[in-house]
Amino acid sequence: MVPVPSGREQLDEAVRRLRNGEPIGFPTETVYGLGALAFDAGTVRLVFQMKGRPAGNPLIVHVSDEAMARRVTSNWPESAHRLASAFWPGPLSIVAPKVSGLPAEVTAGGETVCVRCPAHPVALALIEALDAPIAGPSANRSGHVSPTTPEHVRAEFPGLFVLDGGPCRIGIESTVVRVGADRVEVLRRGAVTPGQIESVLGRTVEVAHHSEGGGGALPSPGLLDRHYAPRTPTLLVEPVDLARVAEEAVTSVVLAQEPVETSSKSVGAWIRMPRDAEGYAASLYDALRRADGMKMQRIVVARPSGSGDAALWAAIEDRLRRASAPDRS
Ligand code: TXA
Ligand code: MG
Repeated sequence: MVPVPSGREQLDEAVRRLRNGEPIGFPTETVYGLGALAFDAGTVRLVFQMKGRPAGNPLIVHVSDEAMARRVTSNWPESAHRLASAFWPGPLSIVAPKVSGLPAEVTAGGETVCVRCPAHPVALALIEALDAPIAGPSANRSGHVSPTTPEHVRAEFPGLFVLDGGPCRIGIESTVVRVGADRVEVLRRGAVTPGQIESVLGRTVEVAHHSEGGGGALPSPGLLDRHYAPRTPTLLVEPVDLARVAEEAVTSVVLAQEPVETSSKSVGAWIRMPRDAEGYAASLYDALRRADGMKMQRIVVARPSGSGDAALWAAIEDRLRRASAPDRS
Protein backbone atom coordinates (compact mmCIF):
# COMPACT_ATOMS: atom_id res chain seq x y z
CA MET A 1 0.00 0.00 0.00
CA VAL A 2 1.37 3.40 -0.98
CA PRO A 3 1.52 5.78 1.97
CA VAL A 4 -0.82 8.74 1.58
CA PRO A 5 0.40 11.59 3.82
CA SER A 6 -2.67 13.67 3.06
CA GLY A 7 -5.04 10.92 4.18
CA ARG A 8 -7.37 8.56 2.41
CA GLU A 9 -10.33 10.93 2.65
CA GLN A 10 -8.54 13.74 0.84
CA LEU A 11 -7.44 11.31 -1.83
CA ASP A 12 -10.99 10.00 -2.34
CA GLU A 13 -12.21 13.57 -2.53
CA ALA A 14 -9.61 14.36 -5.22
CA VAL A 15 -10.69 11.31 -7.22
CA ARG A 16 -14.36 12.32 -6.94
CA ARG A 17 -13.70 15.88 -8.06
CA LEU A 18 -11.57 14.86 -11.05
CA ARG A 19 -14.18 12.31 -12.15
CA ASN A 20 -16.79 15.10 -11.85
CA GLY A 21 -14.85 17.22 -14.30
CA GLU A 22 -13.24 19.57 -11.80
CA PRO A 23 -9.58 20.66 -11.94
CA ILE A 24 -7.62 20.18 -8.70
CA GLY A 25 -4.20 21.06 -7.33
CA PHE A 26 -1.98 17.99 -6.83
CA PRO A 27 1.55 17.48 -5.51
CA THR A 28 4.55 16.11 -7.36
CA GLU A 29 8.22 15.96 -6.37
CA THR A 30 9.03 18.91 -8.68
CA VAL A 31 6.21 21.47 -8.38
CA TYR A 32 2.44 21.32 -7.82
CA GLY A 33 0.25 20.62 -10.83
CA LEU A 34 -3.21 21.84 -11.86
CA GLY A 35 -4.73 18.53 -12.89
CA ALA A 36 -7.61 17.32 -15.05
CA LEU A 37 -8.33 13.86 -16.39
CA ALA A 38 -6.34 13.71 -19.62
CA PHE A 39 -9.25 12.24 -21.59
CA ASP A 40 -11.67 14.92 -20.32
CA ALA A 41 -11.28 17.60 -23.02
CA GLY A 42 -13.71 20.05 -21.41
CA THR A 43 -11.87 20.15 -18.09
CA VAL A 44 -8.51 20.38 -19.86
CA ARG A 45 -9.86 23.48 -21.63
CA LEU A 46 -10.86 24.87 -18.23
CA VAL A 47 -7.26 24.38 -17.01
CA PHE A 48 -6.00 26.51 -19.90
CA GLN A 49 -8.58 29.20 -19.05
CA MET A 50 -7.74 29.20 -15.35
CA LYS A 51 -4.04 29.62 -16.06
CA GLY A 52 -4.48 32.12 -18.87
CA ARG A 53 -2.27 29.71 -20.80
CA PRO A 54 -1.79 30.21 -24.54
CA ALA A 55 -3.76 27.47 -26.37
CA GLY A 56 -0.60 26.51 -28.29
CA ASN A 57 1.31 25.34 -25.21
CA PRO A 58 0.77 21.60 -24.59
CA LEU A 59 0.42 19.93 -21.16
CA ILE A 60 2.33 17.14 -19.49
CA VAL A 61 0.39 13.89 -18.95
CA HIS A 62 1.11 12.24 -15.59
CA VAL A 63 1.03 8.45 -15.48
CA SER A 64 1.58 5.88 -12.74
CA ASP A 65 3.86 3.63 -14.80
CA GLU A 66 5.12 2.84 -18.26
CA ALA A 67 2.07 0.73 -19.09
CA MET A 68 -0.08 3.83 -18.68
CA ALA A 69 2.39 5.84 -20.80
CA ARG A 70 1.74 3.36 -23.58
CA ARG A 71 -2.00 4.10 -23.29
CA VAL A 72 -1.45 7.76 -24.27
CA THR A 73 1.23 7.20 -26.91
CA SER A 74 1.02 5.49 -30.31
CA ASN A 75 4.71 4.65 -30.39
CA TRP A 76 6.89 4.15 -27.33
CA PRO A 77 10.40 3.80 -28.72
CA GLU A 78 13.11 1.68 -27.15
CA SER A 79 14.91 4.86 -26.04
CA ALA A 80 11.78 6.02 -24.19
CA HIS A 81 11.57 2.63 -22.50
CA ARG A 82 15.19 2.85 -21.41
CA LEU A 83 14.76 6.34 -20.02
CA ALA A 84 11.57 5.40 -18.19
CA SER A 85 13.26 2.32 -16.69
CA ALA A 86 16.17 4.44 -15.49
CA PHE A 87 14.39 7.57 -14.24
CA TRP A 88 10.74 6.79 -13.44
CA PRO A 89 9.18 7.54 -11.10
CA GLY A 90 11.07 10.81 -11.34
CA PRO A 91 11.51 14.29 -12.80
CA LEU A 92 11.83 13.33 -16.48
CA SER A 93 9.12 14.12 -19.05
CA ILE A 94 9.39 12.22 -22.32
CA VAL A 95 7.93 13.51 -25.62
CA ALA A 96 6.59 10.74 -27.88
CA PRO A 97 3.88 10.38 -30.58
CA LYS A 98 0.38 10.70 -29.11
CA VAL A 99 -2.39 8.15 -29.37
CA SER A 100 -5.21 9.37 -31.64
CA GLY A 101 -7.87 9.23 -28.90
CA LEU A 102 -6.07 11.70 -26.65
CA PRO A 103 -7.88 15.07 -26.85
CA ALA A 104 -6.16 17.64 -29.06
CA GLU A 105 -6.47 20.13 -26.18
CA VAL A 106 -3.85 18.23 -24.16
CA THR A 107 -1.20 18.40 -26.88
CA ALA A 108 -2.27 21.81 -28.21
CA GLY A 109 -3.17 20.19 -31.49
CA GLY A 110 0.26 18.60 -31.88
CA GLU A 111 1.06 15.00 -32.78
CA THR A 112 3.27 14.37 -29.76
CA VAL A 113 2.52 14.09 -26.05
CA CYS A 114 4.81 14.79 -23.11
CA VAL A 115 4.54 12.05 -20.46
CA ARG A 116 5.97 11.63 -17.00
CA CYS A 117 5.58 9.42 -13.93
CA PRO A 118 6.02 11.60 -10.83
CA ALA A 119 8.04 10.38 -7.83
CA HIS A 120 5.56 11.45 -5.21
CA PRO A 121 3.54 8.92 -3.20
CA VAL A 122 0.40 11.08 -3.18
CA ALA A 123 0.52 11.70 -6.94
CA LEU A 124 1.09 8.01 -7.63
CA ALA A 125 -1.70 6.96 -5.26
CA LEU A 126 -4.03 9.45 -6.99
CA ILE A 127 -3.27 8.25 -10.52
CA GLU A 128 -3.52 4.61 -9.42
CA ALA A 129 -6.87 5.22 -7.72
CA LEU A 130 -8.18 6.88 -10.90
CA ASP A 131 -6.56 4.26 -13.12
CA ALA A 132 -6.32 7.14 -15.60
CA PRO A 133 -3.70 9.69 -16.59
CA ILE A 134 -3.80 13.29 -15.33
CA ALA A 135 -2.99 16.16 -17.67
CA GLY A 136 -1.56 19.03 -15.73
CA PRO A 137 0.65 22.06 -16.08
CA SER A 138 2.29 23.67 -13.08
CA ALA A 139 -0.41 25.20 -10.84
CA ASN A 140 0.38 28.86 -11.45
CA ARG A 141 -0.93 31.63 -13.66
CA SER A 142 0.80 31.49 -17.01
CA GLY A 143 4.31 32.94 -16.83
CA HIS A 144 4.28 33.25 -13.04
CA VAL A 145 6.45 31.40 -10.49
CA SER A 146 5.62 27.69 -10.13
CA PRO A 147 4.15 26.56 -6.79
CA THR A 148 6.05 24.27 -4.43
CA THR A 149 3.59 24.18 -1.49
CA PRO A 150 -0.22 23.87 -1.21
CA GLU A 151 -0.27 27.47 0.10
CA HIS A 152 1.38 28.68 -3.10
CA VAL A 153 -1.33 26.94 -5.15
CA ARG A 154 -4.11 28.45 -3.06
CA ALA A 155 -2.53 31.89 -3.48
CA GLU A 156 -2.66 31.41 -7.28
CA PHE A 157 -6.17 29.94 -7.37
CA PRO A 158 -8.24 30.89 -4.31
CA GLY A 159 -10.91 28.31 -3.55
CA LEU A 160 -9.25 25.52 -5.56
CA PHE A 161 -9.24 22.06 -3.95
CA VAL A 162 -5.58 21.15 -3.35
CA LEU A 163 -4.45 17.65 -2.47
CA ASP A 164 -1.77 18.23 0.17
CA GLY A 165 1.53 16.44 -0.35
CA GLY A 166 3.71 18.82 1.65
CA PRO A 167 6.51 20.93 0.17
CA CYS A 168 7.99 19.68 -3.12
CA ARG A 169 11.31 17.89 -2.66
CA ILE A 170 13.00 19.02 -5.89
CA GLY A 171 11.42 22.43 -6.40
CA ILE A 172 12.02 23.06 -10.11
CA GLU A 173 10.12 21.58 -13.05
CA SER A 174 10.99 18.27 -14.66
CA THR A 175 13.51 17.80 -17.44
CA VAL A 176 11.72 17.59 -20.82
CA VAL A 177 13.37 15.31 -23.37
CA ARG A 178 12.35 14.53 -26.95
CA VAL A 179 13.53 11.21 -28.30
CA GLY A 180 13.62 11.09 -32.06
CA ALA A 181 15.14 8.55 -34.43
CA ASP A 182 17.96 10.88 -35.39
CA ARG A 183 18.43 13.00 -32.28
CA VAL A 184 17.73 13.24 -28.58
CA GLU A 185 17.09 16.73 -27.33
CA VAL A 186 16.61 18.19 -23.88
CA LEU A 187 13.92 20.86 -24.35
CA ARG A 188 13.89 21.97 -20.71
CA ARG A 189 16.60 21.45 -18.12
CA GLY A 190 15.71 19.89 -14.79
CA ALA A 191 17.03 17.56 -12.10
CA VAL A 192 17.66 14.72 -14.57
CA THR A 193 20.73 15.94 -16.41
CA PRO A 194 21.75 15.67 -20.09
CA GLY A 195 24.78 13.65 -18.95
CA GLN A 196 22.60 11.12 -17.14
CA ILE A 197 20.42 10.75 -20.24
CA GLU A 198 23.51 10.30 -22.40
CA SER A 199 24.88 7.55 -20.23
CA VAL A 200 21.58 5.64 -20.25
CA LEU A 201 21.10 5.93 -24.03
CA GLY A 202 24.77 5.75 -24.99
CA ARG A 203 24.37 8.59 -27.46
CA THR A 204 24.86 12.33 -27.64
CA VAL A 205 22.13 14.56 -26.26
CA GLU A 206 21.54 18.09 -27.48
CA VAL A 207 20.29 20.87 -25.25
CA ALA A 208 17.84 23.22 -26.95
CA HIS A 209 18.29 26.95 -26.51
CA HIS A 210 15.12 28.91 -26.82
CA SER A 211 14.49 32.51 -27.45
CA GLU A 212 11.33 34.33 -28.43
CA GLY A 213 13.28 36.30 -31.00
CA GLY A 214 14.96 33.20 -32.40
CA GLY A 215 12.55 32.75 -35.30
CA GLY A 216 10.97 29.50 -36.45
CA ALA A 217 8.59 27.27 -34.53
CA LEU A 218 9.46 26.64 -30.91
CA PRO A 219 10.10 22.94 -30.31
CA SER A 220 8.61 23.34 -26.84
CA PRO A 221 6.22 26.26 -26.86
CA GLY A 222 6.32 26.83 -23.11
CA LEU A 223 9.96 27.78 -23.19
CA LEU A 224 9.57 31.46 -23.88
CA ASP A 225 12.10 33.90 -22.52
CA ARG A 226 10.05 35.30 -19.68
CA HIS A 227 8.67 32.58 -17.46
CA TYR A 228 8.78 31.57 -13.80
CA ALA A 229 8.66 35.30 -13.13
CA PRO A 230 7.66 37.25 -10.01
CA ARG A 231 5.43 40.30 -10.54
CA THR A 232 8.13 42.54 -9.06
CA PRO A 233 10.83 43.47 -11.60
CA THR A 234 13.69 41.03 -11.04
CA LEU A 235 17.37 41.59 -11.70
CA LEU A 236 20.05 38.89 -11.89
CA VAL A 237 23.52 40.23 -10.99
CA GLU A 238 27.02 38.87 -10.49
CA PRO A 239 27.88 38.58 -6.77
CA VAL A 240 30.80 41.01 -7.26
CA ASP A 241 28.35 43.65 -8.51
CA LEU A 242 25.90 43.21 -5.65
CA ALA A 243 27.33 45.89 -3.36
CA ARG A 244 27.30 48.46 -6.18
CA VAL A 245 23.75 47.56 -7.28
CA ALA A 246 22.63 47.77 -3.65
CA GLU A 247 23.74 51.42 -3.55
CA GLU A 248 21.20 52.34 -6.24
CA ALA A 249 18.22 54.24 -4.91
CA VAL A 250 15.73 51.47 -5.65
CA THR A 251 14.25 49.62 -2.70
CA SER A 252 15.26 46.00 -3.13
CA VAL A 253 14.95 42.59 -1.60
CA VAL A 254 18.12 40.62 -2.24
CA LEU A 255 18.42 36.86 -2.69
CA ALA A 256 22.03 35.84 -2.09
CA GLN A 257 24.10 32.98 -0.72
CA GLU A 258 26.32 35.33 1.29
CA PRO A 259 25.38 38.30 3.49
CA VAL A 260 25.16 41.54 1.53
CA GLU A 261 28.12 43.81 2.38
CA THR A 262 26.34 47.14 2.31
CA SER A 263 24.95 49.78 4.60
CA SER A 264 22.67 50.96 1.79
CA LYS A 265 19.18 51.94 2.90
CA SER A 266 17.90 50.59 -0.41
CA VAL A 267 18.25 46.99 0.70
CA GLY A 268 14.95 46.47 2.49
CA ALA A 269 15.46 42.76 3.11
CA TRP A 270 17.66 39.88 2.15
CA ILE A 271 16.86 36.22 1.87
CA ARG A 272 19.75 33.87 2.44
CA MET A 273 19.86 31.14 -0.22
CA PRO A 274 21.37 27.66 0.28
CA ARG A 275 24.91 26.94 -0.93
CA ASP A 276 24.16 23.52 -2.40
CA ALA A 277 22.30 23.04 -5.70
CA GLU A 278 19.64 20.71 -4.28
CA GLY A 279 18.86 23.08 -1.42
CA TYR A 280 18.86 26.09 -3.72
CA ALA A 281 16.45 24.46 -6.20
CA ALA A 282 14.12 23.31 -3.43
CA SER A 283 13.81 26.78 -1.91
CA LEU A 284 14.05 29.02 -5.00
CA TYR A 285 10.37 29.46 -5.85
CA ASP A 286 9.34 29.94 -2.24
CA ALA A 287 12.04 32.61 -1.89
CA LEU A 288 10.90 34.37 -5.09
CA ARG A 289 7.29 34.30 -3.88
CA ARG A 290 8.25 35.66 -0.45
CA ALA A 291 10.33 38.37 -2.09
CA ASP A 292 7.41 39.23 -4.41
CA GLY A 293 5.11 39.45 -1.39
CA MET A 294 7.32 42.14 0.18
CA LYS A 295 6.23 44.49 -2.60
CA MET A 296 9.53 46.30 -2.90
CA GLN A 297 10.53 48.09 -6.08
CA ARG A 298 12.63 45.20 -7.27
CA ILE A 299 14.08 41.79 -6.49
CA VAL A 300 17.84 41.42 -6.92
CA VAL A 301 19.23 37.90 -7.22
CA ALA A 302 22.96 37.30 -6.89
CA ARG A 303 23.91 34.67 -9.46
CA PRO A 304 24.40 31.51 -7.40
CA SER A 305 27.29 29.10 -7.55
CA GLY A 306 28.48 26.12 -5.64
CA SER A 307 30.38 22.93 -5.96
CA GLY A 308 28.76 19.69 -7.03
CA ASP A 309 26.00 19.23 -9.49
CA ALA A 310 26.87 21.54 -12.42
CA ALA A 311 23.88 20.43 -14.49
CA LEU A 312 21.43 21.21 -11.69
CA TRP A 313 23.05 24.63 -11.33
CA ALA A 314 22.49 25.08 -15.08
CA ALA A 315 18.79 24.28 -14.60
CA ILE A 316 18.59 26.79 -11.74
CA GLU A 317 20.38 29.39 -13.86
CA ASP A 318 17.86 28.76 -16.66
CA ARG A 319 14.96 29.52 -14.27
CA LEU A 320 16.67 32.63 -12.90
CA ARG A 321 17.32 33.92 -16.41
CA ARG A 322 13.66 33.52 -17.29
CA ALA A 323 12.48 35.01 -13.98
CA SER A 324 14.57 38.11 -14.70
CA ALA A 325 13.88 38.42 -18.45
CA PRO A 326 12.30 41.71 -19.48
CA ASP A 327 8.49 41.79 -19.50
CA ARG A 328 7.41 42.20 -23.12
CA SER A 329 3.74 41.51 -22.51
O1 TXA B 1 7.72 19.15 -13.21
C1 TXA B 1 6.87 19.34 -14.08
O2 TXA B 1 7.06 19.03 -15.26
C2 TXA B 1 5.55 19.97 -13.66
C3 TXA B 1 4.79 18.97 -12.78
C4 TXA B 1 3.42 19.46 -12.40
O3 TXA B 1 4.73 17.73 -13.43
N1 TXA B 1 4.77 20.34 -14.79
C5 TXA B 1 5.09 21.38 -15.58
O4 TXA B 1 4.16 21.62 -16.57
O5 TXA B 1 6.07 22.07 -15.42
P1 TXA B 1 4.15 22.92 -17.46
O6 TXA B 1 2.93 22.83 -18.29
O7 TXA B 1 4.31 24.10 -16.62
O8 TXA B 1 5.39 22.73 -18.42
C6 TXA B 1 5.36 21.72 -19.41
C7 TXA B 1 6.43 21.98 -20.43
C8 TXA B 1 6.12 23.21 -21.24
O9 TXA B 1 7.33 23.91 -21.46
C9 TXA B 1 5.57 22.64 -22.53
O10 TXA B 1 5.75 23.48 -23.64
C10 TXA B 1 6.36 21.36 -22.66
O11 TXA B 1 6.49 20.88 -21.33
N2 TXA B 1 5.64 20.37 -23.46
C11 TXA B 1 4.47 19.75 -23.18
N3 TXA B 1 4.09 18.92 -24.18
C12 TXA B 1 5.07 19.00 -25.10
C13 TXA B 1 5.26 18.38 -26.39
N4 TXA B 1 4.38 17.53 -26.89
N5 TXA B 1 6.39 18.71 -27.07
C14 TXA B 1 7.30 19.57 -26.57
N6 TXA B 1 7.16 20.19 -25.37
C15 TXA B 1 6.06 19.91 -24.66
MG1 MG C 1 4.68 25.91 -15.92
